[in-house]
Amino acid sequence: MPTSGIRPLVAGNWKMNGLRRSMDTIEALSTRANEEGVLEALDMLVCPPATLISLAVKTVDTTPIHIGAQSCHPAESGAHTGDVAPEMLRDVGASYVITGHSERRADHGETDADVNAQSVGAWRAGLCAIVCVGETREEREAGRAVDVVVGQLAGSVPDGATAENTVIAYEPVWAIGTGLTPTVEDIAQIHAAIRQSVADRFGAEGEAMRLLYGGSVKPGNAAEVLSPAHVDGALVGGASLSASDFMGIATAVKGLVDA
Ligand code: 13P
Repeated sequence: MPTSGIRPLVAGNWKMNGLRRSMDTIEALSTRANEEGVLEALDMLVCPPATLISLAVKTVDTTPIHIGAQSCHPAESGAHTGDVAPEMLRDVGASYVITGHSERRADHGETDADVNAQSVGAWRAGLCAIVCVGETREEREAGRAVDVVVGQLAGSVPDGATAENTVIAYEPVWAIGTGLTPTVEDIAQIHAAIRQSVADRFGAEGEAMRLLYGGSVKPGNAAEVLSPAHVDGALVGGASLSASDFMGIATAVKGLVDA
């Protein structure tokens, strides 16, 4: 349930999916977001692959749906073959970038220190960093979920984080793409711990920071999994590839705000 006074964010992470023809999905989202009035209650963001950012920015046109990226290199430019600088993302119209997604941590060995540096780079370019944290199945079963998440936050979120430049996404690794979700009690416990941690470190900025839940969020479970306190929206993978599923989740969040 979005914290009172915090404007929720419903973000889609397309991962390594999408070709130019996928702009159909962005067009459908723009149309429906306007028709259904969800943008009055919340922000929507789509993070397509880097190849589509420029096109997606043009496709949303005048609809205030934000477009973001899925990762960035910390540096502004240089000899880093295959990497994309935050300034390049900003240059083509991105306003957010996801940092520290568990797939980047697993596939590319990105550490908390890397995620921290990427987030600083994002801020330098004027992007908002969506910093991802989340425990593995083994860590949860060992009763270490809260400690792991709080530890990742300490290492991954740079000093100087504000409610404007940073969003935190809690994505339990074992819930991503599996159809499994934590219980609402477990989500409530972790989100309370995240709020406490960012409020202790960043004061009023931490109190106002958006905390998203991600991991198998679908239209059918969104109202329930996003209902705990300190859940200010969602980071959606698979369901964000369908305009109607993504809109279903946004509508559920609007329902939680209106309730
Ligand atoms: P799914 O919604 O497909 O589980 O993915 C979640 C995710 O990793 C979003 O970043």
